[in-house]
Amino acid sequence: MSDVIVAAGLLREFGSGAQRTRAVDGVDLSVAEAELLMVLGRSGAGKTTLLSMVGGLDRPDAGTVTVAGQRVEALQGRDRDRFLQVSVGWVFQTSGLVPLLTAVENVELSLHLAGLTGTAARERAVEALALVGLDGRRAHTAAELSGGEQQRVAVARAIAKRPIAVIADEPTAQLDSETAAGIMELLREVAAAGTAVLMATHDRVAVEYADRVVNMEDGRLAATSTT
Ligand SMILES: Nc1ncnc2c1ncn2[C@@H]1O[C@H](COP(=O)(O)OP(=O)(O)OP(=O)(O)O)[C@@H](O)[C@H]1O
Ligand SMILES: [Mg+2]
Repeated sequence: MSDVIVAAGLLREFGSGAQRTRAVDGVDLSVAEAELLMVLGRSGAGKTTLLSMVGGLDRPDAGTVTVAGQRVEALQGRDRDRFLQVSVGWVFQTSGLVPLLTAVENVELSLHLAGLTGTAARERAVEALALVGLDGRRAHTAAELSGGEQQRVAVARAIAKRPIAVIADEPTAQLDSETAAGIMELLREVAAAGTAVLMATHDRVAVEYADRVVNMEDGRLAATSTT
């Protein structure tokens, strides 16, 4: 299977002088098509910093990130916007939905940014909500949905544009274990459908859903285990 995400020599430092911390300290990683790679690590290990660079939200001080042939760290201006809007779907710890918009409108909003409009966007949004099991909830406003349902909408929003890669930063951290398992099953299906999925967590239970797990500690990737 070909690698969709390839990161090499990633380095990111914050602060200056004695306060200087190396949040990510020379990381190489790759995620293949249809693979779910999980980065497991304690709070402060550097997971968010790593994912942010891979997903184009932050730039490394050194190193390179390639997503489907695009050099992410070198993207500027509109090219970078386009990468974020079209190529990668993000899921965060909190869903970040617009509370007064309905589930389907929340998904459509991201599709509009990705360049889809009108009926095409509506159909794609409805289809994505069906995939996450929210057929019966699409006309509910985000504020009317449970936390778990909101997170499902966030997954629908990330996959509706059919991105090359989905990046999920602790997507289950605020959910009870049963609801979290549902989100993990969804992410598994997203990977099985061909998308590269990169996820960070400190929840060891989530590991069973991964194709591959890497441990992160003090900005470095440690031992690799295969499940
Ligand atoms: N914007 C920033 N400015 C300064 N320091 C930062 C910044 N972002 C992260 N750090 C530091 O980098 C280190 C790694 O943080 P990061 O958020 O990547 O960890 P994490 O593994 O995602 O932790 P958590 O599980 O709590 O989300 C921490 O020491 C943090 O304080
Ligand atoms: Mg984090």
